[in-house]
Amino acid sequence: MLIKNAKLRGKQGLWQILIQNGSFVEIAEQIAGNEEDVLDAGGKLVIPPYVEPHIHLDCVFTAGEPRWNESGTLFEGIELWAERKKMITIDDVKKRAKKAIQLQISQGIQFVRSHVDTTDPELTALKALLEVKKEVQEFVDLQLVAFPQEGILSFPRGSELLEQAVKLGADVVGAIPHYEFTREYGVESVKIAVALAEKYGKLVDIHCDEIDDPSSRFLETVAAEAQRLGLKERVSASHTTAMHSYNNPYAHKLFRLLQLAAINIISCPTENIHLQGRFDTFPKRRGMTRVKELVQSNINVAIAQDSIMDPWYPLGTNHPLRELDMCIHVCQMMGYGEIIRSLDLVTENGAKALRVEHEYGIEPGKPANLLILDAEDEFDAIRNLSCVLYSIRKGKVILKRIPAQTDMQRIS
Ligand code: FE2
Repeated sequence: MLIKNAKLRGKQGLWQILIQNGSFVEIAEQIAGNEEDVLDAGGKLVIPPYVEPHIHLDCVFTAGEPRWNESGTLFEGIELWAERKKMITIDDVKKRAKKAIQLQISQGIQFVRSHVDTTDPELTALKALLEVKKEVQEFVDLQLVAFPQEGILSFPRGSELLEQAVKLGADVVGAIPHYEFTREYGVESVKIAVALAEKYGKLVDIHCDEIDDPSSRFLETVAAEAQRLGLKERVSASHTTAMHSYNNPYAHKLFRLLQLAAINIISCPTENIHLQGRFDTFPKRRGMTRVKELVQSNINVAIAQDSIMDPWYPLGTNHPLRELDMCIHVCQMMGYGEIIRSLDLVTENGAKALRVEHEYGIEPGKPANLLILDAEDEFDAIRNLSCVLYSIRKGKVILKRIPAQTDMQRIS
């Protein structure tokens, strides 16, 4: 396949992309030869696929079951999920997860990391998603996080279930220190998760400090453990919203540790602007971690959807640009250069957090995974929340979209 008239990020002019046997072969302004299979990008922006680095596929499409979250707090969400999960079956999880993955494919996502609740003695959701992972691999790479939603030390046999989940095939180990009964349990839970990941050669992704409490400081433990054990980029901390309320001298000290540890931060803009600040009257905190300042400090930040119609978040289309739109508004990343660069937050930075860089990017030798957006450049894409015209995976078209046409009279 030869793609013609492609705009590429950071490059002037129009480019041609030659794909053979599922891989990129050459990217140049002019490629010689008569390729039969030609796709005209029409001057549109071509980028690597979107990455969704934090979603809960076991919980999707359960909002309102058994009832809606009326307080809008994380805590009511966890209580509601504890009730709903008593009803899950393999078939129920697979059906809902596949519906969400279909939605993700339609948005141009090809790499997904899903958390899966392991505070279930049967580990039903994990067993279901391990099947889904195999069944969808032609369309998306799916990583599964063993995620102890109700705690490692605060839930009966939490630690044992977590290890069992890793043995069953989870790729990543999670924890939720701010939800554990005590601060001490929280610190210990992080150490257990990181040690387990080291023991089994897995990645780490901790739900960390997703609370407005400025004294929730588990991120320092996550980063210190990542640094001490040399796991570094293999470790991610999700949410880290308490950081919005840390005093600046402490945040300054913490940033140094984050740089040394080289861990990734994953922020979930729509979820956190919705869930956080619920105990505030006014002034009301924005509830997001310091994305702008983290990015300025060269700390890898990726952004994510987190939920699609579940007990924590009632909406959700998994449109990466909608998440990005929320992020750059809430975090005030609206300088021209910031807007242009922010596309990294839903592409390259997510690939880095998932550790899939070796197969990610439009470069000769890499798998031919790409998107053609209905946009001239990054600015245009972000401003218009542009849709994906083509999603190509290993050289094969897995999505083609013809944008809706509108006929209207023109004003003079
Ligand atoms: Fe989450």
